[in-house]
Amino acid sequence: MSLLKNGLVDIHHLSTQDMLEILKLAGRLKDALARRDVPGYQLAAGSDRLVAQLFYESSTRTRASFEIAALRLGCRVTGFGSTEGSSVSKGESLSHTIDMFDAYACDAIVLRHPLDGSALWASERTSVPVFNAGDGKRQHPTQTILDLFTILEHHGRLENLNIVFSGDLKYGRTTHTLALALSQFAGNTFHFCSPSNLSMPRAITELVRGRGVKVIESENMKEGLETADIFYQTRIQRERMPDQNEFDKAKKAGAFTLAMMERTRPGFGLMHPLPIDKRIPGIMPELDAHPKALYKTQAGNGVPTRMAELALAMGLVELPVSGRPVHLPAGSQDDFCRRLEIHEKPPREGVSIRPIRDRGVVVDHLQPHTESLLALLLRVKDRRDVYRAGCVRSVARPDHVKGILMIEDRVLTTDELRLVATVSPGARVNRIENGRVVEKYELDLPAVISGVESLMCPNAGCITRPEHQEHVSCCFEKLDAHTLRCKYCDHILDASELFGHLF
Ligand code: CP
Repeated sequence: MSLLKNGLVDIHHLSTQDMLEILKLAGRLKDALARRDVPGYQLAAGSDRLVAQLFYESSTRTRASFEIAALRLGCRVTGFGSTEGSSVSKGESLSHTIDMFDAYACDAIVLRHPLDGSALWASERTSVPVFNAGDGKRQHPTQTILDLFTILEHHGRLENLNIVFSGDLKYGRTTHTLALALSQFAGNTFHFCSPSNLSMPRAITELVRGRGVKVIESENMKEGLETADIFYQTRIQRERMPDQNEFDKAKKAGAFTLAMMERTRPGFGLMHPLPIDKRIPGIMPELDAHPKALYKTQAGNGVPTRMAELALAMGLVELPVSGRPVHLPAGSQDDFCRRLEIHEKPPREGVSIRPIRDRGVVVDHLQPHTESLLALLLRVKDRRDVYRAGCVRSVARPDHVKGILMIEDRVLTTDELRLVATVSPGARVNRIENGRVVEKYELDLPAVISGVESLMCPNAGCITRPEHQEHVSCCFEKLDAHTLRCKYCDHILDASELFGHLF
């Protein structure tokens, strides 16, 4: 498989070596551009390549630099720069919009969209390479490639760096993606500095710590300043905040000042993905021409890096994928259901739920109160004649209350067992024939949960949420016995949250 053949929707799809190869190619293209070596960079000349730009959110840098990158390569560019004037404003779904640019046989799609997971969904919908130009608050991987390029150009390395990430780390997709990428290089230290309501998502902090990064969290943006190699400042993402209260607290994030710059060591670089909001600037304007301010060079690096990415995606340059991406889902699809030995027990005294006399199923060891949810999901809720449910005190462990659900004349299918395992990992299922247990299973959380009706990702910004009307089915990957990650938005949740909206 050739590198970036499918575009780039998630930084986790790249190994460390892959990132370095893209940066090397971008370096060659930057040199060719500087020398005006047209044959050296116009790699698509005469090959009639077409790049579609689909921007559902405003942009200056990402859109312009992708467009310039495409034009410099010798491609043509189509698409829209805002939803106004496109059929998105008439209610067209992302799926249908992607289908159109697929039907027009575009060679690459660049997508910026406000929903988390939109780029992954688009890439599943089409075989055209998709570039994630920012999906909600989740990732902005092509920004990260230009950020890495800038750091490498400035410091000559991506390892053993002290990096301060400052500003809006909660909604700032650029910091999420850059932290994830830099965590793949050894010896880096991260200072995450933000107001408490804008801190880096726990999932990212834990993930980068797990990869050996030293992480220091603080509300003071001056912490770590004297030892910083890079200070990565970001804008408060006002447009993603649910209310004024959150924005009022967010405004406490300070600005990077000349006095702060004077405390930095030689070789220090001040970066910002831009734009800077002039109403609450994260960097004071007098620093724009400072030799340690890298953000103009950084933005300029968007052209050669995006040229490299487009050239790879369109097969104008072929590089083999090298190394394994770091992000692998845990477990396998079918290990959720374990058969148990049957030990015949005499009927217990004091158990208040009438047993199954003939044929049916007993679902036991349920987390308390999930039994009525299961009755709903297994479509017996209105059939009090066939099911009984309740919470009982465990005979073996009297301090333990468990849910129990009995359904007369019913055998559970594999999909239904998967549903029970999803609702209540640890549950046991007994199949009853002639009043006796003939099969017994213990259920663990399935490795992948998808295709289950009524599931909902708790992240309101996820593409799968029904209110966005994009008709994308939920899919979750198991992280451990009770924890899951949404495949689309990366939200990490406890299995008990999956059906929280139904209680
Ligand atoms: N850095 C960045 O994404 O800028 P734009 O929003 O202007 O594209």
